Formats: sequence, C-alpha cells, structure tokens
Amino acid sequence: MYAFSSIEKRIFAFESDFCSFFMAGIYIHIPFCKTRCTYCDFHSGTNLQLKKQYVKALCDEIGLRKKYLGNQPVKTIYFGGGTPSLLTTEELASVFDVLNRNFDLSQCEEVTLECNPDDLSANYVLGLKQLPINRLSIGVQSFNDVELRFVNRRHSAQQAIEAVKRCQRCGFVNISVDLMFGLPFQRVDSFNENLRIVTQLNVPHVSVYGLTFEQGTTIDRQRKQKIFVPTDEEVSILMYENAIQYLTSNGFEHYEISNFAKSGMRSKHNSSYWDGTHYLGIGSGAHSYNGVSRQWNVCDTRKYCLLRDYYEIETLSCEDVYNELIITNLRRKEGVDLEFLLCRFGERFYRYCRKNAQQYLQNELLVLKNNRLCLTQKGLLLSDSVIRDLMI
Ligand SMILES: C[S@@+](CC[C@H](N)C(=O)[O-])C[C@H]1O[C@@H](n2cnc3c(N)ncnc32)[C@H](O)[C@@H]1O
Ligand code: SF4
Repeated sequence: MYAFSSIEKRIFAFESDFCSFFMAGIYIHIPFCKTRCTYCDFHSGTNLQLKKQYVKALCDEIGLRKKYLGNQPVKTIYFGGGTPSLLTTEELASVFDVLNRNFDLSQCEEVTLECNPDDLSANYVLGLKQLPINRLSIGVQSFNDVELRFVNRRHSAQQAIEAVKRCQRCGFVNISVDLMFGLPFQRVDSFNENLRIVTQLNVPHVSVYGLTFEQGTTIDRQRKQKIFVPTDEEVSILMYENAIQYLTSNGFEHYEISNFAKSGMRSKHNSSYWDGTHYLGIGSGAHSYNGVSRQWNVCDTRKYCLLRDYYEIETLSCEDVYNELIITNLRRKEGVDLEFLLCRFGERFYRYCRKNAQQYLQNELLVLKNNRLCLTQKGLLLSDSVIRDLMI
C-alpha cells in the first residue's frame, strides 16, 4: 500500500524548467543474481555465463548513446540491479573507462553501487575503493536470520553487519542500508531491533520498504498456498510508524516515503529522478528520459546483448508529464509546488489538482505548506490512493 508499490517502480522524471541546472544522471542495470530472493520481481536472472557478454554490450551501448544527454555534465551514476556487486572490479573499471571517454564526468558528485552483503569480501571492498565509486547501497533487508532464510537471502545477519563495518573500515562513509518490513514471521519487536542495529551501525542513509507481493514471485505463491500468514496491515503500519519515529528521533530526516538520511546525505541520484533531471539508462530494462521522450531498453538480457532494436521510445504528452510530477513529488517531503504546477501546466491542470486534493485536505491526508501540497503522516500510509486520485 504505502510501501514499495507499483507506483514506486514506475518512477520517471518529469520535465522541469529547472532540470537541476542541466546536470544529468546515468543509471546502469546489472541483471544478474546468484540466487533469487522469493519476494523479488526486479529484472534479473541467475545465468552468470552471460555476464562477460553483457558487460561488453553495456560498454557498446554507452558509446552508441553518448549524444543522448546533449552536453550535460553527469552529476550522478547509479549501478542498480539485480546485483551490481557481482561485477568484478575489472569489469566495473572497464565500464568507467568507457563512461569517461563518452561523457563529461568532471562534475560527477555521486557514484552508487548496489551491493549484496555476501559479495563484500575485504579484497572486493578494497578494489571498489580504487574505483570512482563513493556510495554503497547495501541490501540487508533484516538482521534476523529466520526472516532472511525464509526469503532466500544469501547472507546471515552477522555477515551483513560485518559487511557494513568492513566497508566503513575501508573508508566508505556514504553507505545506505535497505530494510524491509512486513516479512513473513517478522514481529514488531524484531523489526524494532533492526532499526536499533541499523542506527548503531552509524550509516547515514536507510531505505525502508514494506514487503509487496508481486505477481509470479515465490512468496506470492506461498501466500496463496497459506504456507505462512502474511503480516496484518495494522502490524505493517505500526512497523512503518516505528521506523519513522525511531529514525527521525535518531537524527535521520524522513525525506521521501521510503527514505531516511542524515543531514546532507540524501541520495542525489534518486533525488534527481524526483526533481526532473534528465537521465540515461544503460543495460537491459533500463529507462531513459531527456525532457521530451521516455525510452526503455528491452527487458531481456540475451536480446539486449545483441543491441539490435533494443529500445522503445515514447514521446510524452502533457498529461504524462503532469502525472509523473504528481507521482514523484508527492512522495517527497517537499511535496508538489502548486505555483510551479500552474506555471508549467496551466489553469486546467492546476484546477484539476486543487479540486481532487480538496477531499484529502479536508480529511487531513494532505496539507498545504507554503503553497506546496504535502502528504501528512496519515497520508503517507495511504499515499498510493491519494497519488492515484490526483493523477489524470
Ligand atoms: C534492486 S533491489 C535489490 C538490490 C540488491 N540486489 C539486494 O538484494 O540487496 C533494491 C531493494 O528493493 C527492495 N525490494 C525488492 N523487492 C521488494 C518487494 N517485493 N517488496 C519490498 N521491497 C522490495 C529490497 O529492499 C531491495 O534491497
Ligand atoms: S532482492 Fe536483490 S539479490 Fe534478491 S533477487 Fe532481487 S535483485 Fe536479486
């Protein structure tokens, strides 16, 4: 509901007159995992034999698409997955080499690698430190072994703790940890313990996602077969509220529905999706946006490796861009800037938004702050419905 929803997975940028002063982002998708977690429907497979061929295709695609961002310097790079930490440091170095030759990285501020704890050996982390990577996003999900085992994670709680500490010892400061709530067998006190441990680890960024049951996943089948009892909605809500309460009282800012950061440590890459920065998506299933059109690569690793007819393109209508603005901005603490909305989209869209927001302002799911429409704490829990009603 208010968690890692299908809406979240559709996050695209909206056309903004500000466009972050014409700095761009690059997303690189790595569609490989050693094993699949039962809840996950991200585009990824376990045939690692394709990896070498795939890295070559990534490098070729970077060359083919060097004009996509015009001459905008790149501000952020994000390796997402799947499991980007399955790339060797040599493979990552080869991708950086091609990126450097094709884009202006001189002003690049943030380079993130999504990592699984079991990949973060001392040697590997030392190797990462020699590369331009300056932010690690580590998928921990839980610090409870029963919960981890049930969803087929490849690491134990202790391994995850050691992995985070190892990265810190090697000099990585900007580390984000992903946690999930509403996992099978997860109780409120075990989730609270996760919050306590993550805070003690002293990482500056935490993402907290409520488990969603995606069609076709093992966990969804198990739920239908009643192999476990799903967490009650009220219990999930309590966990989410506990996360907000605990993390904000421990120095984190709750800056987006699922994201918490210490001062100055918000994810720059994700923030740029939310504020209209142009971005280029490289790799199978990756999306791109350059202010005029949206483009997405084929979600099939083998087909992608051939780099023939590998993408589709769609010119965005005004309604599409408006909808993207609602989806992305309502999720953020800063909300939707109504003055910007009026200037950018005109009277008709502005009136539509105001009219549909009215009921939510009355029942206090939305609040107006400095002419910005923001979700209240109560609204965060029902964000999908509010967002849907404000879309055209
Ligand atoms: C791209 S995924 C995985 C990154 C990395 N491979 C890992 O497993 O840690 C990013 C995050 O999405 C979250 N996630 C994936 N599927 C989810 C689901 N069905 N419900 C809630 N969160 C989910 C997990 O927290 C995960 O760490
Ligand atoms: S959660 Fe991460 S490791 Fe697990 S299947 Fe999804 S992408 Fe792969």
